Amino acid sequence: MLTDTLNRPLRDLRISVTDRCNFRCTYCMPEEIFGDKYRFLPKPQILTFEEITRSARIMVGLGVNKLRITGGEPLLRHDLHLLIEQLAQIDGVDDIAMTTNAYWLPKYASDLKLAGLHRVTISLDSLDNDAFRQMNGGKADVSQVLDGIRAAEKAGLIPIKINAVVQKGVNDHTLVDMARFCKDNGYILRFIEYMDVGTRNGWRLDHVVSAKEIMERIGAVFPIEPIDPNYFGEVAERYRYVDGSGEVGVIASVTQPFCGTCTRLRLSPEGQLYTCLFATKGVSLRDPMRAGATDDQLRDLIADIWRKRDDRYSEIRGANTLIGVDDIPVGDAKRIEMYYIGG
Ligand code: GTP
Ligand code: 5AD
Ligand code: SF4
Ligand code: SF4
Repeated sequence: MLTDTLNRPLRDLRISVTDRCNFRCTYCMPEEIFGDKYRFLPKPQILTFEEITRSARIMVGLGVNKLRITGGEPLLRHDLHLLIEQLAQIDGVDDIAMTTNAYWLPKYASDLKLAGLHRVTISLDSLDNDAFRQMNGGKADVSQVLDGIRAAEKAGLIPIKINAVVQKGVNDHTLVDMARFCKDNGYILRFIEYMDVGTRNGWRLDHVVSAKEIMERIGAVFPIEPIDPNYFGEVAERYRYVDGSGEVGVIASVTQPFCGTCTRLRLSPEGQLYTCLFATKGVSLRDPMRAGATDDQLRDLIADIWRKRDDRYSEIRGANTLIGVDDIPVGDAKRIEMYYIGG
């Protein structure tokens, strides 16, 4: 079995299909930077569906059994269902999921389901319309996301998971409402600790509400108890409501990093492979692919990248935080941006 220097197998491939998004979340694509003049990747630089599928098939041969489609906002990529159709034909893939802001789901959910998508995870930070609009740069109302969630449910893209990034003083007064709503509707809610991804969101440790505090606040209203992970390396810590009405989770990448079981490899829209969400550089698969590399050559290249992998950024930052250093200096290296690699 292929493992990295920390003995971690390769299991999940996260495919970012576009760097564009129709939202401008302040923690991901702040409007001041991603305004009208911002240059997104031109089409010729972006992997074609055939190139993505070829890359994915090779990685499935190396151990990947789970695919996640992300962006930017993946539904902005034209004819995305055609990519799903191709990916669904790869033998050995157990799970094909998508992370989306749900805005375009009413239009596309049923085509995606027919093409072979299994489920969606929807980003929704608050049910309070003012807080939500403040977080998404004023681009959408809660009601539009709820329409998308209902469309996904109707199409059978289940189980539906909802991701909510928690920012102190911005949406943390709405956590219990979110929990109640998801519990009542059978959606699996996961709160995410606000992370220091990228270089442009002005992250500070005091903007983070810890997983411990989040779950204490939920537990004070709805009794909960911890449950086991679904699979090796699951990022969310899971809890069940004691009254049997479902589960809720928390992703504690800041206060309880999970690098030790990180089995994720990320493919960017232009075909760079990144071995960590906080990587400063990737390796291009597109260039050798377009220069005529064979499948065997690509397989060797990817296997070599994974064998040498030693990333554990969150653990290192966690240790630094404990001794009072807020951030890891990245020097001149440009840390990868969340909008580009999709969480
Ligand atoms: P399931 O397949 O449903 O278990 O989903 P997941 O929990 O793997 O996926 P999801 O894409 O919903 O991840 C949720 C969030 O967790 C992301 O948006 C990130 O904020 C965070 N996250 C996911 N993977 C990593 C990771 O490798 N490192 C860090 N630091 N955070 C991650
Ligand atoms: N910290 C935590 N989660 C983030 N996401 C985007 N930026 C951050 C951040 N700084 C989440 C989004 C979405 C997923 C793609 O990544 O809310 O759920
Ligand atoms: Fe778009 Fe998701 Fe980033 Fe928000 S977090 S700007 S919805 S990619
Ligand atoms: Fe994996 Fe890097 Fe996230 Fe750690 S910080 S869990 S190594 S992606």
